[in-house]
Amino acid sequence: MKKIGVIYWSNMGNVEVLADHISTGAKSLGADVEVKLVSEIKPNEITKYDAVALGSPSMDNNKIEQQEMEPFINEIRLLAPNNMPIVLFGSYGWDDGKFMVDWVQRMKDEKFDVKGSIAVKEAPTAKQLEKAEELGKLLAE
Ligand SMILES: Cc1cc2nc3c(=O)[nH]c(=O)nc-3n(C[C@H](O)[C@H](O)[C@H](O)COP(=O)(O)O)c2cc1C
Repeated sequence: MKKIGVIYWSNMGNVEVLADHISTGAKSLGADVEVKLVSEIKPNEITKYDAVALGSPSMDNNKIEQQEMEPFINEIRLLAPNNMPIVLFGSYGWDDGKFMVDWVQRMKDEKFDVKGSIAVKEAPTAKQLEKAEELGKLLAE
């Protein structure tokens, strides 16, 4: 059974809903899933997972959240095994998903195996929630 972490930052709940649906998708294929706020996990715990989904809104001028998520990402890039499978998810207000394009590229450059990503404008639609479930399944396969 795969052990999967869904680790996110959310203020108003848009990213949190995506996290829940990614978790649902992964669990539907039998994965052991932990859903955690980034404030609830230490970077070195990343090694207990076979795959992780990482989520953030676009904040602070079209970047991932800078107080908690940015330092977490900066540390796990040194701790995670090479080619660790990941999915990135998030929500934006006005950057049209540019923060996600930048984030995907950064994680690829750091030798993560980016299996997929989703960026939604504010609250996700029903269709986008279905895609989030599919991303969860991708990690669990
Ligand atoms: C303080 C603050 C800063 C934000 N900065 C940006 C930004 O730079 N670019 C952008 O596209 N959206 C920005 N947003 C919009 C959020 O990314 C968007 O509302 C998102 O859905 C919030 O996710 P959440 O509900 O999980 O907290 C900002 C929102 C807040 C509250």
